[in-house]
Amino acid sequence: MISFVGAGPGAADLLTVRAVDRLRNADVVVWAGSLVAPEALEHCRDDAVIHDSRAMTLEEVCDVFAAHPNAAIVRLHSGDPTIFGAIGEQIAWCVAHDRAFEVVPGVSSFTAAAAAAGCELTLPGVAQSVILTRLAVGTAASVPERETVRAFAAAGATMALFLSVRHVELLVDELLADGSGYEPATPVLVASRVSRADEQLLTTSIGELAATVTRAGLTDTTMILVGPALAAAGGRRSHVYDPAYGTRFRPDASRGGEAPTVSTGPTVSADPVGEGPR
Ligand SMILES: C[S@@+](CC[C@H](N)C(=O)[O-])C[C@H]1O[C@@H](n2cnc3c(N)ncnc32)[C@H](O)[C@@H]1O
Repeated sequence: MISFVGAGPGAADLLTVRAVDRLRNADVVVWAGSLVAPEALEHCRDDAVIHDSRAMTLEEVCDVFAAHPNAAIVRLHSGDPTIFGAIGEQIAWCVAHDRAFEVVPGVSSFTAAAAAAGCELTLPGVAQSVILTRLAVGTAASVPERETVRAFAAAGATMALFLSVRHVELLVDELLADGSGYEPATPVLVASRVSRADEQLLTTSIGELAATVTRAGLTDTTMILVGPALAAAGGRRSHVYDPAYGTRFRPDASRGGEAPTVSTGPTVSADPVGEGPR
């Protein structure tokens, strides 16, 4: 089995229980040494064969997979492996070579950054969407033309920017381009090396973003969260904990304490999964 495992943002206790289990049982580990905190490897057995992929090509990584046809292999990626993890091409190799694989999710840097700052990314009445994206720089050819930061900025929603801190001036231009739903005063959280010993959390605005990043000397491993929700307080309260709004688990006051049920039909504000409308 080849397990594509999310290592989380860095803190040892932000590895999932399943990730630790896969690391403990691994015969072979290929880890992204440029991004994953080395503490994650402390869970590995002494006899596990460890490869650092930072200087390897996809072909070399797949050669390791091929050399161990019956081993328990962990391919360790930072954060959640399904986000900018380059696992798609490795999964394609597994499918082409009839190798069993699984994906073990991890705590992504964008949720870790929001948690560290103590804020909600989806504040009712303020922002109900989170755009996960990156600037079209570096490996710009990977970014489809319709997915520019300026195109997404029109929504004015919460935006999580990966892989973009090195080009912060261009980022500001894109965030404030014509038609943007943001303004220079829109709040920004700059979260560097979240959950690690040298974590830095800087609150700023789009207008001050370039100066903030330059002053702090940030060039890598930085998450940039943008949007009005980052101002935290001031949004509308959630329907889900409002006494006037009933859910499957709690009656609303106007119904005299009678709990709506899923079977009462669509006119009742029943929430079949207990999580909806906010
Ligand atoms: C190749 S992407 C991998 C993203 C990862 N899969 C995730 O879910 O967080 C690397 C980018 O993720 C962000 N990142 C990863 N770990 C981070 C951390 N501990 N603190 C801040 N940003 C981080 C940075 O934007 C970095 O440039």
